[in-house]
Amino acid sequence: MFQRDSVGGTFTIAAVLCAVCSVVVSATAVGLRDIKDRNEQLSFQREVLTVAGKYDESIHKPTDIPELFKAVNSLLVDLGTGLPATSDKVKLDTFNLKKVSKDPATSVEIPTDKNLAGINRREEIARVFLIKKDDGSLDQIILPVRGKGLWSTMYGLLSLDSDAKTVRGLTFYEDGETPGLGGEINNPKWKATWSNPECPKVLFNEQGNVDIAFFKGAVSCDADDAAHRFEALAGATITTRGVENMMKYWLGDHGYGPLLDKVKQGEFTNSVTAAR
Ligand SMILES: Cc1cc2nc3c(=O)[nH]c(=O)nc-3n(C[C@H](O)[C@H](O)[C@H](O)COP(=O)(O)O)c2cc1C
Repeated sequence: MFQRDSVGGTFTIAAVLCAVCSVVVSATAVGLRDIKDRNEQLSFQREVLTVAGKYDESIHKPTDIPELFKAVNSLLVDLGTGLPATSDKVKLDTFNLKKVSKDPATSVEIPTDKNLAGINRREEIARVFLIKKDDGSLDQIILPVRGKGLWSTMYGLLSLDSDAKTVRGLTFYEDGETPGLGGEINNPKWKATWSNPECPKVLFNEQGNVDIAFFKGAVSCDADDAAHRFEALAGATITTRGVENMMKYWLGDHGYGPLLDKVKQGEFTNSVTAAR
């Protein structure tokens, strides 16, 4: 007969309670997975729209995101050739950056001398985003970038003009840097210094080499070479160096270099409609 007040009874009740709770927690997690995935997708789409200057929190609502995102052309690109790609292993709709960039079947090791961003591997096929003008020509290309800061891998989006060298926007959608120090990569004022139309920032020099340098304090638009000078984050030299190095990696020949060459050659100017 079951003795509730015995040692065995106490353990039995505890075990039953644990089993019931774990079933409830698991069922809730599984039941909410679709909603969580959908919210993550919407949040990422909002970041893409924001860096493209197509989403303004003071005007738009989160429910506007799916409609606004129809103006964004998502595209898979082979980073080796810089050309649009199709693949059995990587699909546009289900693209998961963290998975494809870690899986040996869909990623490559970054040679040590090129591993500036400290990420060790990169995806063979990347998902980038194109924004076109009303006449169908290319307006902006949005490139996912990532690299190590002080504490974390910082995940961002860099938007470039159709000239493939002038910054239109920069945002970070995931990082673990210290709020108030490295976490200032998300400060709208700092981000705005990258995309001030009065004082455009240009990432390559005339010879086509990446040309960026970071300095403490605000960079005057009248300064020599102002287009290639960027404001370092105060009290966060290591995070700043992380941003600099991720830019150098992703804009270089092992990152988006081949793609940017194709953009400069006009490859994507009229082929925007080929993307989805
Ligand atoms: C608790 C704590 C958190 C810190 N977080 C960051 C950080 O997120 N990014 C960073 O670059 N430096 C961070 N630092 C500061 C670095 O250790 C280092 O001092 C700093 O990068 C130097 O920047 P500065 O030359 O601009 O002063 C942190 C320091 C402390 C004590």
